[in-house]
Amino acid sequence: MSIERIEHLALRDRVMTADQAAALIKSGDTVGMSGFTGSGYPKAIPPALAARIDAVHAAGEAFRIKLWTGASTGPELDGALSRSDAIEYRLPYNSDPVGREKINKGEIEYLDMHLSHVAPMVWEGFFGKLDVAVIEVAGIHADGSLIPATSVGNNRTWIDCAEKVILEVNGWHDLALEGMHDIYYGTALPPNRVPIPMTRTDDRIGQTTFRCDPDKIAGIVLTDLPDRNSPFSPIDDCSRQIAGHLIGFLEDEVRAGRLTDRLLPLQSGVGNITNAVLDGLRDAPFRELTSYTEVLQDGMLDLLDAGKVTCCSTTALSLSPEGAKRFRENMEFYRDKVILRTTEISNHPEVIRRLGVIATNGMIEADIYGNVNSTLVMGSKIMNGIGGSGDFARNAYISIFVSPSTAKGGKISTIVPQASHVDHITQDVQVLVTEQGLADLRGLGPKKRAAAIIETCAHPDYRDALRAYYDRAMAGAYGLQTPQLPSESLSWHQRFMETGDMRP
Ligand code: COA
Repeated sequence: MSIERIEHLALRDRVMTADQAAALIKSGDTVGMSGFTGSGYPKAIPPALAARIDAVHAAGEAFRIKLWTGASTGPELDGALSRSDAIEYRLPYNSDPVGREKINKGEIEYLDMHLSHVAPMVWEGFFGKLDVAVIEVAGIHADGSLIPATSVGNNRTWIDCAEKVILEVNGWHDLALEGMHDIYYGTALPPNRVPIPMTRTDDRIGQTTFRCDPDKIAGIVLTDLPDRNSPFSPIDDCSRQIAGHLIGFLEDEVRAGRLTDRLLPLQSGVGNITNAVLDGLRDAPFRELTSYTEVLQDGMLDLLDAGKVTCCSTTALSLSPEGAKRFRENMEFYRDKVILRTTEISNHPEVIRRLGVIATNGMIEADIYGNVNSTLVMGSKIMNGIGGSGDFARNAYISIFVSPSTAKGGKISTIVPQASHVDHITQDVQVLVTEQGLADLRGLGPKKRAAAIIETCAHPDYRDALRAYYDRAMAGAYGLQTPQLPSESLSWHQRFMETGDMRP
């Protein structure tokens, strides 16, 4: 990578190797790294740090850090540091398989947070001081301002709050990215907060670069390394059916006059199913859509290309390798249609509520009353984390959750008597969709919700058992507002843990 990307001449003296930069991080440090999904994370310093920590551990000494990021990152960051037992504490989201295993073994303390809460809580000082920020950028201007990369996440906050900043300037990023970002500096802490001046998805309210005091920059590493997002699973019949139900529901809303054919800004969560829903929108009879979301996945590129979506506001590009290639080849086309914001704005409850976002997120399971578990398999084993799903679900115009009706080859029903953990309470869940059908829960009390969910969303193999459970609960529950039998409501999960199958 050429040093030309550092236009601030004095900062060129701070260029160093990844090993030298990693040596600036001490055991016990709290380190805020860039990265949101497999984009915009540092790719050279974390592996160098992991190698150094391996050597320290081999010498019989302790070395661990506390790691904060925007959300998940790539294998060179979470993967490398988890493998080296380098992470003592992690927030706010992880989807790395090695990290997940260590968290589930109790070897990493993991704080799973609403993503919109992270930056404000750090500003408030709730989590203590941030020692080091390690941020990937596309370049440095002569005035010291930083050109953001393919994700924004919490970078603004890490740069502002850290005692020292280490940069990776990555030549892989196309400089045509500059101008797509909208970095808002108008946030203040209570009681001095002011309204966020945004009323449309395409409003730009900030600046295109990060401010950074050059004196805080302790080191700069030059890299030329690609983002590494995973490819999406091929879209299967199940996902197509889910998309079909959801699009049918939106068409009905238009027919009923509650939405126009422009709908309202769409949010689409992480995962294969939500990506498939985006794919399904390509042929749907809607026009001039906008998206106010947290991750821009491949399905959104198709919608932008087809002119179905005119503007997408996000905090990260979460594109497969093919998607990233497409994006890079057509940057000029996407430039005025994609806005990359800080996570505290992309996920801000005030903006989500004001714009009237239609939120669609994946789930692990829902119970018959519509409580949703997004995070913990069998109530105790973390999958990824809540991410932004709570930010959007609580504040959406309509909050929709989607999932196949079974998992693990039919051995798990995703519709259960009682959710083994609740991320989204029934009040935050208006629509549930599986390949079996769509339950519109708006305006329904718990018993009508149960009937709708069992009859439309549950897999036929589990429907009789759910009906029988509900009837027993109606006969024997302590109260009949949400009839539950505590002695058996989690017995399906218990059976799965004992036999590997929820079915008797
Ligand atoms: N019990 C056990 N495992 C389950 C399960 C259940 N009830 N439901 C799903 N799974 C497993 C699947 O078997 C699959 O496992 P595999 O990777 O070993 O094949 C995995 O979870 C992913 O499921 P899939 O059906 O492919 O859905 P997805 O890719 O859409 O992901 C979530 C679903 C819930 C994991 C994902 O949406 C998530 O992490 N959500 C929380 C964060 C979020 O919503 N962010 C949104 C704002 S961007």
